[in-house]
Amino acid sequence: MSEQLTPQQLIAAAKEFGTPLYVYHADKIKEQYGKLTTAFSGSNVRFFYACKALTNVNVLRYIESIGACIDCSAINEVKLALYAGFPAERVLYTSNGIAFDEIAEAKELGVNINIDSLSNLEKFGKAYGHTYPVGIRLRPNIMAGGNLKISTGHDKSKFGIPVEQLDKILTVVKQYDIFIADLHIHTGSDIKDADVFVKGIEVLFDIIPHFPELKSVDLGGGFKVPYKEGDEEIDINLLGRKVKEAFDSHPQAKNLEIWFEPGKFLVSACGYLLTQVNVLKETKATTFASVNSGFNHLIRPMFYDAYHRIQNISNPDGAEKNYSIVGNICETDTFAWDRPMNEIREGDYLVFYNAGAYGFEMSSNFNSRFKPAEVMVKGEVMSLIRRRDVMEDLLRNVVEQESERD
Ligand code: LLP
Repeated sequence: MSEQLTPQQLIAAAKEFGTPLYVYHADKIKEQYGKLTTAFSGSNVRFFYACKALTNVNVLRYIESIGACIDCSAINEVKLALYAGFPAERVLYTSNGIAFDEIAEAKELGVNINIDSLSNLEKFGKAYGHTYPVGIRLRPNIMAGGNLKISTGHDKSKFGIPVEQLDKILTVVKQYDIFIADLHIHTGSDIKDADVFVKGIEVLFDIIPHFPELKSVDLGGGFKVPYKEGDEEIDINLLGRKVKEAFDSHPQAKNLEIWFEPGKFLVSACGYLLTQVNVLKETKATTFASVNSGFNHLIRPMFYDAYHRIQNISNPDGAEKNYSIVGNICETDTFAWDRPMNEIREGDYLVFYNAGAYGFEMSSNFNSRFKPAEVMVKGEVMSLIRRRDVMEDLLRNVVEQESERD
């Protein structure tokens, strides 16, 4: 049975900790991780959780405890991962567009590193030569992903070194005798088609003979999870079979480790954003239900036109009616337009599903509103894992000047 929190558990969390509230269900993360390890059980594989999706250190510790590795996209994520207890050997730093200082810092911390520009590759070579194994992030020129904003492998993308610049890469590698241990690609997010990964593998297989010291091939993340009713998750078992087949049949690839960097697949469905309805407003165009949240807490619907399932858990037997769910901030923060929902009353609890990945993590203090609290549920136990902001948080880093008035 798929792990899911019930409306009763969610209402209990809302009553205990208040709203708006992010709730993460640890058992669901474990279930998703189990799907990955089962699907790839025949392969020499490592899963690096792409922690940009959700970095609460308690979630990181939980993910460490179930055996995953971790992928970071900024040096502070690396530091959080180490702080959470991941050994450096299980930490990967896949950055883009960063200053070389951060790469040097990551090297001092002893983590795995993927470099995404010729310029940093050259600096790395000059500084360390062959002394520290490193990976190269390539841009494979493959269009994939749910929408352009989350497509990262196509031929206009800023991410990675374009694969057609292989000659330049090889010149730098040779000049400084760089120890290339990993080749990396990540084509996008919300990928349902297993063949996208097979295409990526083909691009990489063409060039692996140039890197005789290679230890691993990193195929990135992006496994699709269902957001809407009727949506399907990527067929992870099919992907497992296809990837194994490809690696087994290639003489140079079969001894390589295969790395993946799933973010959404591990933490999207574990997360719920609980809100309450502040006001109802009938208009000619629609009936608005304004919740005590907005794009300051969950920006995905406004930023990517992403769909999140929303349910009124306070009135399961209420007659269905259309509502537009909006936030309370001073922007057009429409979560859903004319969506059928059980009758909404002011004060009802509305839950936003699939809020675990890129939910809290992309939240802000816009309008000087507080970020929500976060709660983790393990089995029957609910624990607060981040306090809601308070006024002091908004003033914490302000350097106050004397008023001009005397
Ligand atoms: N690896 C790399 C190098 C990445 O850039 C990403 C995501 C991942 C792995 C994980 O992708 P995932 O498995 O989560 O799809 N904020 C957007 C998604 C942007 C993802 C950026 N990179 C969203 O909410 O849809």
